[in-house]
Amino acid sequence: MAENFTRVASISEVPPGQMIPVIADGAELLLANVGGRLFALSKVCSHEGAYLSEGWLKEESLEVECPLHEGRFDLQSGRPTKLPPDEPVPAYTVKVEGDDVLVAPLAVEESGR
Ligand code: FES
Repeated sequence: MAENFTRVASISEVPPGQMIPVIADGAELLLANVGGRLFALSKVCSHEGAYLSEGWLKEESLEVECPLHEGRFDLQSGRPTKLPPDEPVPAYTVKVEGDDVLVAPLAVEESGR
């Protein structure tokens, strides 16, 4: 399947244990590095729109915690894992080519895996 990857950062901008805000085709995302694995989600919380990129990365459980009401989302699927949010946020596929980090929207069917 052809996917539309967009470069969003250099790998050096997002070291292990960190997350940063990035933009992909006008969408505001967070890019997170957990022990060298990269994840990208919409950074806008589905509850009341706080920026997840300003929250906390939960490396042990592969979650991000919202700074406003401490809701959580799965970094791989964007699904909510702790209330109050009950709707997912869009998740993205991430790949690295050389020094470049690229993302593409994750198809809805794939997010269930
Ligand atoms: S805005 Fe994120 S949990 Fe309320």
